[in-house]
Amino acid sequence: MTFDDQPLVLVGMMGSGKSNVGKKLSRRLDIPFVDSDHEIVERAGQSIPELFAARGEPAFRELEAQVIAELLGRGPRLIIATGGGVVLDPATRHRLQGDATVVWLRATAGPLAHRIKRDGSRPLLADDPDGAIRRLVAEREPLYREVADIVIDVDHLERKVVTQRVLAALGLAADPADGSRAETVGGVTPSEVPS
Ligand code: S3P
Repeated sequence: MTFDDQPLVLVGMMGSGKSNVGKKLSRRLDIPFVDSDHEIVERAGQSIPELFAARGEPAFRELEAQVIAELLGRGPRLIIATGGGVVLDPATRHRLQGDATVVWLRATAGPLAHRIKRDGSRPLLADDPDGAIRRLVAEREPLYREVADIVIDVDHLERKVVTQRVLAALGLAADPADGSRAETVGGVTPSEVPS
C-alpha cells in the first residue's frame, strides 16, 4: 500500500484516540484529514446526541455508512477517523477491507471507561457507561479485527506515542525503542510519502 493507492482509515472504540492521532498523522505526513463524525454532523445539521434523540441510532448508522462510502470514494491521500460503530455495517466492513489501509487503535474497557465515561457527547454511554463500554468492546473487537491491516495497542499511551507507532507500522519511522507492540496483520508495505 502507498498513500497514492488507498486512504488510511482509523477505527476503534470511542475514546481510543482516532481523531487526535489522525490529525497528528495528517500534520506529520502532509496528507488531508477528515473526521467522519464531523461530516455526519454537517450533513445532518444536528449534533450526534441530537441526531440519536431525534432520528434514532438506525438513522445515524445509515448516514454513517453513506458518509464512509463517500469518503472512501474520494480516493487515496486521505486520512479518515471514523466513529466507533462504523464496523457494525457489513457493507462498510467489506468496503474497508477492499478500499483502505485500516489501523485499529485497540483499547481495553477499563482504561477507556476511565477516559470517557463522563463524556456527555456520546449517547451510547448515557446509562451505565461502564457496562456499555464493556459490552461494546466485547461486541466490536471481532469486527475491528476483521477489517484491520494494522493493530496498535493504545492503553495508557500518549497520543504522540500512538502516532509514532502507527508511523512505524507503516514503515515511515524507526521502530520505537520502547518495545512497540504494533501488529501488522495485512500486507502493508512502506508508503511513499515525504518524511
Ligand atoms: C459511536 C461513537 C462516536 C459517534 C457516535 C457513536 C459508537 O464516535 O460516532 O456517538 O457507536 O461507538 P467516536 O468513536 O469518535 O466517539
